[in-house]
Amino acid sequence: MRGTERTGQALPCALPVLLLALAVRGAATDAPTFPWRDAETREWLACGQCPPGTFVQRPCSRGSPTACGVCPPRHYTEFWNYLERCRYCNVICGEREEEARPCNATHNRACRCQPGFFAHAGFCLEHAQCLPGAGVVVPGTPSQNTQCQPCPLGTFSASSSSSERCQPHRNCTALGLTLNVAGSSFHDALCTSCLNFSLSTVEPGYEECERALLDFVAFQDISLKRLLRLQQALVGPGGRRRPPPREEGRAALQLKLRRQLAELGARDRALGARLLLALRDARLAGLERSVRARFFPTR
Ligand SMILES: *[C@@H]1O[C@H](CO)[C@@H](O)[C@H](O)[C@H]1NC(C)=O
Ligand SMILES: *[C@@H]1O[C@H](CO)[C@@H](O)[C@H](O)[C@H]1NC(C)=O
Ligand SMILES: *[C@@H]1O[C@H](CO)[C@@H](O)[C@H](O)[C@H]1NC(C)=O
Repeated sequence: MRGTERTGQALPCALPVLLLALAVRGAATDAPTFPWRDAETREWLACGQCPPGTFVQRPCSRGSPTACGVCPPRHYTEFWNYLERCRYCNVICGEREEEARPCNATHNRACRCQPGFFAHAGFCLEHAQCLPGAGVVVPGTPSQNTQCQPCPLGTFSASSSSSERCQPHRNCTALGLTLNVAGSSFHDALCTSCLNFSLSTVEPGYEECERALLDFVAFQDISLKRLLRLQQALVGPGGRRRPPPREEGRAALQLKLRRQLAELGARDRALGARLLLALRDARLAGLERSVRARFFPTR
C-alpha cells in the first residue's frame, strides 16, 4: 500500500519508535478515514485510520497526521481501524485443544482440536475407530471425524483402528502356498504349506497341516451364534459362559477360538478327533463334513 510505504520512510527521523505517522488527507493516501473534530479550530477533519497491528494513539489535527501505535503484547487489531486501544487476545485454548495460530499484533489466538480429536458441537471428540471388517477411507482431521467403509470384496481389516485402511487379501498361489481359508472382510486369506491336508497319518509336515486344520475351523465364515456353540462344545459343559459379545465380537471371537484351539492342540495329541466331536456337539454338520473330507479322507 502506498500510504504505509511512505510511512516507513518517514519513520526514522522525528517520531518515537512505536509511533507510525500516516499520511492522512485527501486522495494522497489509500488509508480509510474517520471524521474527527480538531480540538482547537473546531473544524471537522478526515483523519486517516490506522493499519492492522496498530491503534490510534493520537487523532490527526490540522497540522499533523494521525499517530498510530503498535499493539502491545497479547493485543491485536485485525483491520484498518480508529480504535483507541488494541483488542485483547481473548481466545483461550481449552481441554483437548492446541494453538492453531498464536496471538500476534494482527490476529487473535486461534485453537483447534489436538491430534486424534475433532470439533463437534463445541467439544473436541475422539476420532472414531473403524471396527474390524471396516477400514479408514478418510482419516479424521481437527474438524472432521474418521470416515469408515466396509471393506470391499478382496480386502480386509482385522482390527479396530482410526488409521488403518482395508488391505488386499494375500494371494496364496502367488506365494507358492495353498489357500486354506478364503479371506473375509475381517481377516486375510489363510495360506498353508500343508500339501494335501491329510492328517490321517503322522508324517513330515504334520504340524503345518494341524495348524491348517485349526485355522480352517476357527476362521470359517459362520454366524456368531454358531461360533459360540462351537466354543462351548470345545470348552465342555464345565466351561465358563462369557458375556454377550459386542458388535466387533465375531472377529475377536475367531481369534480367541484360534488361540483356544492352539492350546488344546498343545495338550491333546488326538486334537483332530476331539474337534470332530465338538463340531458334532455344536450341530455344525456342514463344517464337520468339510473338515472330514479335507483333513481326514478315507481311502
Ligand atoms: C500474525 O499471524 C498471521 C496468521 O498466523 C500471519 O499471517 C501474520 O503474518 C502474523 N503477523 C505478524 C506481524 O507476525
Ligand atoms: C493370484 O496369483 C496368481 C498367480 O500369480 C494369479 O494367476 C491369480 O489371478 C491371482 N489371484 C488373485 C485373486 O489375484
Ligand atoms: C497326502 O496324503 C496321503 C495320505 O492321505 C499320503 O500318503 C501322501 O504322502 C500325502 N502327500 C502327498 C504329497 O500326496
